[in-house]
This record gives sequence, C-alpha cells and structure tokens, in this order.
Amino acid sequence: MHTPIIRLLYISDATEGLGEEAVTAILKSAGKNNPPLGITGMLVFGGGVFAQVLEGPEGGVLKKYVQVMSDERHRNCRVVYITTAVERLFEGVSMAALQALPVELAHIAELDAHRKETVPPEAFGNLMNLFFSRLQAVP
Ligand SMILES: Cc1cc2nc3c(=O)[nH]c(=O)nc-3n(C[C@H](O)[C@H](O)[C@H](O)COP(=O)(O)O)c2cc1C
Repeated sequence: MHTPIIRLLYISDATEGLGEEAVTAILKSAGKNNPPLGITGMLVFGGGVFAQVLEGPEGGVLKKYVQVMSDERHRNCRVVYITTAVERLFEGVSMAALQALPVELAHIAELDAHRKETVPPEAFGNLMNLFFSRLQAVP
C-alpha cells in the first residue's frame, strides 16, 4: 500500500522586480527541503504570477504550503485546486521551474477567475497535462 498523497495547486502574485535568480534560489531551497517531506512538483512563472503544484503526503504538502505563503517573493497565495491522488504526476522531480507559455497563462488565469466556484476536475487535469508535457520536453 502506497502512502496516500494529495496534489495542491496554488497561484500567487510575484513581487515586482523579481528576476530569474529568485527562481534559482527557490529551486535550491526546494531541492534541499522537498525530498525529506516527500514533496514533488512544479513551479511555473510568468505574467507576474507563480503557479505551483505540490504533491506528496498531506502533512508535508500543507506544511510547505503554509511556509511558502509567508515568503516575501510573492503575495496573495490562493489555493485553486486540491485533490487526493493515487499516483504522483511529478515522480522523481523534487521541484522544477519553467517560464509559463501563453497557453498556460491563459489556463492559469481561467482557473484563478473561477477559484471560488468548484473548479471542474477536467480544467485542473488539462493544466496538469500541459505542465507535465512541458517537463517531458525539457532536455
Ligand atoms: C513561489 C515560491 C515557491 C516556493 N517553493 C518552495 C518549495 O517547493 N520548497 C521549499 O522548500 N521552498 C519553497 N519556497 C521557498 C520557501 O518559501 C522558503 O523560503 C524556503 O523553504 C526556506 O528554506 P531554506 O531557508 O532552507 O532555504 C518557495 C518560495 C516561493 C516564493
């Protein structure tokens, strides 16, 4: 029996003037801190927003999310989707970061606009597939 996992997607507003080096520093922290918490996932940035998927045991994911919420490199963290999951999408990826493509930004904006409603699982699934295929395309 596998440990049950959850998958959480949040969106936040990047602090103005944030550069690539901020993302590099975040990845460095994630590479160190995520494996012991059993967290895998992906961070997409662009258009002034971050969208991050955190997956892993509920305790680790929620602990990390609460910690990340108070990070001054972004604000207005909002959970857009949270679900239980049978398998990881980002198996073996302690955290990857990629600049968002326009099509991804459009999906992110759409989910953000509807986050106070029940976001359809398909809309979430479509974005996860986009993220995942981006990762597969990275050499
Ligand atoms: C958008 C964003 C995503 C982040 N993602 C992670 C993450 O996945 N894992 C992590 O440990 N820290 C992440 N951080 C950084 C944490 O907020 C925090 O700075 C870090 O965990 C501190 O750990 P350290 O002092 O060991 O580097 C993120 C920060 C931001 C702004």
